[in-house]
Amino acid sequence: MLLTCENRGVNCQAMHTQVLKIEALSSLYVIGIILGYPIIITVSLVAHIFQLLVKFVKSRFGHSKSIAGEVALVTGAGHGLGRDIAIALAQQGCHIAVVGTQVKYLLETSAFIAQTFGVKTKAYKVDVTNYQQICELKENVSKDLGDVTILINNAGVIYMSTKEKPSAEVVQRMINVNLTGTTLVTDVFLPKMKELNRGHIVNVSSASVFFPLPIHYIYGSTKAAMRYLTAALRVHLRQIKSNVKATCLMPSYLTTNKGVSEDMKATGITPGQFQIDGDVLAQYVIKALHWGHEEIAVPCGFLWVQKLSAIFPAYIQEFSLTLLSRTLKK
Ligand SMILES: NC(=O)c1ccc[n+]([C@@H]2O[C@H](COP(=O)([O-])OP(=O)(O)OC[C@H]3O[C@@H](n4cnc5c(N)ncnc54)[C@H](OP(=O)(O)O)[C@@H]3O)[C@@H](O)[C@H]2O)c1
Repeated sequence: MLLTCENRGVNCQAMHTQVLKIEALSSLYVIGIILGYPIIITVSLVAHIFQLLVKFVKSRFGHSKSIAGEVALVTGAGHGLGRDIAIALAQQGCHIAVVGTQVKYLLETSAFIAQTFGVKTKAYKVDVTNYQQICELKENVSKDLGDVTILINNAGVIYMSTKEKPSAEVVQRMINVNLTGTTLVTDVFLPKMKELNRGHIVNVSSASVFFPLPIHYIYGSTKAAMRYLTAALRVHLRQIKSNVKATCLMPSYLTTNKGVSEDMKATGITPGQFQIDGDVLAQYVIKALHWGHEEIAVPCGFLWVQKLSAIFPAYIQEFSLTLLSRTLKK
């Protein structure tokens, strides 16, 4: 039987009036925004130019924040990008907690760091999706190295849906590691940073957030959620006037994961100069820690493409992505 609002006992008229009111109000907002667009664009340009000028002056004449002696925890630091970030941090004089699940790689990374840079370092076998293990990790790191003031949420599961859709198990793991893991690790380590009123959290997201393509399906969604998470965290920190900083890093394809490189070849994506080495990207993390950048896209042009295309209706924005998707091999 077809259910209408009357036979479900709902007052249809009142509901329609409410919907109309909401729509009329939002249309007024849209008209206001369209009329005010030239002003909005001018203000936005001035704000961007001001920010660029401040960055330029700071980098030319200012002193960047030193991070030597800080305790940095890097998730997924046994291999891949996390290892490169851990090494770059150790090079800056940070003590490093090397976190991941594969002991062999964790031990190798921490041994390399200890021998090469002479900083304090230790390997911790921890699954970032396990809250209990993360709480124990916090206790252990404070005892072994000190309070963590730099947290790099790098651990991630990447799956490009090139040939097949990810299985239910892979979907769950991607969401768990990329999103739940980042949230839980942040929740456990942030309170101490707030108490000390210093610290910096860097969340490694991905440039896939700018291009919602079917091949990035769930992966891109988890990374977009990480961007949201970082922005909401920044707002919270400013609201409570905390000195703790949060950065979202959104890199293009990396050379750090063989599987991704092979998938790209299979799909016909030729990233060329957009494919970045882990040690190069690690320097962006160092820059973010020195200068407190909020969002970093690599290459930075992607951020602008997204900002400028946002004024188009969704069907136009998605048209170019549909064309791009059609050119990719299945
Ligand atoms: N590769 C790219 O093209 C690319 C592009 C943009 C962004 N990213 C992002 O960059 C980050 C690093 O990627 P990558 O290229 O270095 O990939 P990767 O080599 O696969 O590294 C992933 C890391 O995550 C760790 N990890 C996975 N599950 C974990 C868990 N449950 N608990 C703790 N650690 C876990 C792994 O450590 P164990 O093996 O020890 O568990 C590994 O070190 C990811 O967040 C990824 O999304 C990658």
